[in-house]
Amino acid sequence: MAKVVATSAFPIDLRPLLGAGIELVEGSLADATDAEGLICLLRDRIDDAFLARAPRLRVVANYAVGVDNVDVAACARRGVAVTNTPDVLTDATADLTFALILAVARRLREAEALLRSGRWGSFEPGLLLGVELSGATLGLVGAGRIARAVARRADGFGMSVVYTSRRSELPGARRRSLDELLGEADFVSLHCPLTPETRGLIGAAQLRRMKPTAFLINTARGAICDEEAVAAALAAGTIAGAGLDAFVDEPRVVPALLAAPNAVLLPHIGSATRKTRSRMAELCALGVREVLAGRRPPNLVVPGERAVAREGATSSEAQPSEVERPSHGERTK
Ligand code: GLV
Ligand code: GLV
Repeated sequence: MAKVVATSAFPIDLRPLLGAGIELVEGSLADATDAEGLICLLRDRIDDAFLARAPRLRVVANYAVGVDNVDVAACARRGVAVTNTPDVLTDATADLTFALILAVARRLREAEALLRSGRWGSFEPGLLLGVELSGATLGLVGAGRIARAVARRADGFGMSVVYTSRRSELPGARRRSLDELLGEADFVSLHCPLTPETRGLIGAAQLRRMKPTAFLINTARGAICDEEAVAAALAAGTIAGAGLDAFVDEPRVVPALLAAPNAVLLPHIGSATRKTRSRMAELCALGVREVLAGRRPPNLVVPGERAVAREGATSSEAQPSEVERPSHGERTK
């Protein structure tokens, strides 16, 4: 029996999908040192030190599309295959991106709080005025599957879409440099993978380039932003608001962000629909089963290469160097 450790329970039973000959154990990374397969979450850090303690490991199935928590190169060196969960979470994440866009644009947090406080007087012409999506410009950082799905929704809302990406094209949208996009967009939404190139991509200088009326949306990874800089920009009115579903050190949220009145903060629920979370689990089981059977799984992550591209779309969530960093450093508007 091949031992497979899963670091969490999942919405569906993986045992029938893994098939005979595989013993599934729920446990921590410490329980995986004698395992041949591992199904892990983005909170699990799979680095070379862990791999050294798990010499029998043949496959790491990451329950996420992003693989920034996994040292993919170290896995490759040690002959450990890595799989992720592309495609199945694209629509759910794009939906949540729009939930955040609408929530910040129409001030849903404040509006709900007012109603529940019992202080709502009556319909008032000037109460809780927000901004409309129609005619607004959405700036997408990244042009992978999720960015494309967000762009399709933006079209339905009558928004115009600009994007920045070094490698991928986003048909129907206008390409910009990151600096141009930041200065032009009414909503800046992050859809790039977290890589050495994108870590800290949105800092104080980039936030100053945004319009004071613009909103920052992050359903990707917290560390793409400098969170203290985002909180400072919110407090100073450098930007109008933020909708964030990802944080640098989850589940910790920096106090300055918690204190920001014009931020909608969510506990990393971008892919959290029953359907998507079940399909992600299926993809993890598929990855483990195929690798342990000596076959190449369709969702294999290849270091330095794009993740498996399907639907004719260029995938990018697992690919490095997606976004061009501004070549100049601190520069004010
Ligand atoms: C979630 O954040 C994922 O990368 O799937
Ligand atoms: C508002 O509720 C309206 O009817 O215009």
